[in-house]
Amino acid sequence: MSFSEFMASALYDPGFGYYARGARQIGRGGDFFTSVSVGPLFGGLLARRFLREWQTLGCPERWRIIECGAHDGTLAADVLNALSLLEPHALKGLDYVIPEPLDTLQNIQRETLRDFPKTVRFFQTPAQLADDPLPGIAFGNEVLDALPCHLVEWRGDRWLECRVGIAAEDRLIWNLGEIDNPQLISALAPLGRQFPEAYRTEIRIGYQAFLEPLVRSLDAGRMLWIDYGFARSDYYHPQRSSGTLRTFSKHRAGDDPLEFPGETDITAHVDFTAVAEVAAELGGQATEFRNQGAWLTEIAREWLLEQDGAPQPSLLRQFQTLTHPGHLGGSFHVLELTWKQPANIPNPAHLAHHLFGEA
Ligand SMILES: C[S@@+](CC[C@H](N)C(=O)[O-])C[C@H]1O[C@@H](n2cnc3c(N)ncnc32)[C@H](O)[C@@H]1O
Repeated sequence: MSFSEFMASALYDPGFGYYARGARQIGRGGDFFTSVSVGPLFGGLLARRFLREWQTLGCPERWRIIECGAHDGTLAADVLNALSLLEPHALKGLDYVIPEPLDTLQNIQRETLRDFPKTVRFFQTPAQLADDPLPGIAFGNEVLDALPCHLVEWRGDRWLECRVGIAAEDRLIWNLGEIDNPQLISALAPLGRQFPEAYRTEIRIGYQAFLEPLVRSLDAGRMLWIDYGFARSDYYHPQRSSGTLRTFSKHRAGDDPLEFPGETDITAHVDFTAVAEVAAELGGQATEFRNQGAWLTEIAREWLLEQDGAPQPSLLRQFQTLTHPGHLGGSFHVLELTWKQPANIPNPAHLAHHLFGEA
C-alpha cells in the first residue's frame, strides 16, 4: 500500500487507529502538546480574530465557524467562552460546526461542549452542510499536518515512491517503486529536478479533497490554518534530505512510522504554498502567511491594551509560550485564505512572492 493509505489506517481506522483510541494523546500525560494545551488564551485570541471577521462580513445575523480536528473539544469551549464574554450578540447567531469522522472523539466533544447545545453541531463531514452555506470561518490547529501524505525518494534522475509492504512474520517493510499515481506525479512537478541522491520527503495530494467541502459550506469568509510547515522553497530545500515525517509518543519524537502503527502519532509538516495553490483553484485567495508569534501578537494588541500591558501572570506565561520564537511562536505558521471577499492583494500573480518570498 502507499504510505498515505498506511498513515490513514494507522491514525484513523475506527478500530485500531491512533486517534480512535480516545483523546488522551494531547497534554502532559499524553504524547505531545499543542497550542491548545498551553491554556485558554489561544482560544480567546482566536475568538477575537473570528469576531473581527464577523465584523468584516457585516455582522451577519447567522454565521458559521467550522472547526476541523476539534479533538476533545477544548479549543471550541475556549473560543465559545471567550465569544460569550466579548460579543454575546455574535454568539447568538453562530452555528459552530465540528466535522468529526471518529465516533469516539465526537462523543468526547459532545460531553465537553454540553453547555452550548444551541450553538454547536456535529457532523461526520462538512459536505453535509453544502446545502446551507453561511458566511463565516473554517479553521484548524494542527490538522493539515495530520492528513495522510505520500513518501517519495529521489533516485538517479527521478522520484520513486516509498510504499509499505509486509515481510515474514507480518513485519512491515519499505518498498521503493515506480510512481503510477497521476495525482502524485503532477504534485511532484513543481518541486524541480535538483535533489541529492536518496533525498526522501513527503507530499500531500489530499488538500483539495479536504478544502473543497469546506468551501461549499461557507458563503463568504475566511479560512485559518495553523500548523508546522513552510513555504515550498523551504520545505523542499535540498538540505532537508530526510523530510519532516515524525512520530510522537510520550513526548518523544521518532522517525520510524512502521514500528508501532496505531500507538504513535504520525505527522509531517505542511507545504503552505501547495495549500494556497489549491485554495486558488477553488476560488479562494491567500492573504496572509506569518509565524504564529507575529500573527497572535497582532491579534492580541487590543487585549494587551485592555490589560494595561500587565496581564495576569498565568495569561502572560501562556502568551509568551504561544508567541516566543523559541517556543510555539516560531515553529508554527498561519495561513489565512479568503473567499468571495474584496481581495487584499491586487494581483494574484504576485501571491507567491508577496506571501512566501518565492520568485
Ligand atoms: C494533532 S491533533 C490536533 C487537535 C487539536 N486541534 C489541538 O490543536 O489540540 C489532530 C486532529 O485532527 C483530526 N483530524 C485529522 N483529519 C481530519 C479530518 N479530515 N477531519 C476532521 N478531523 C481530522 C484528528 O482526529 C485529530 O483529532
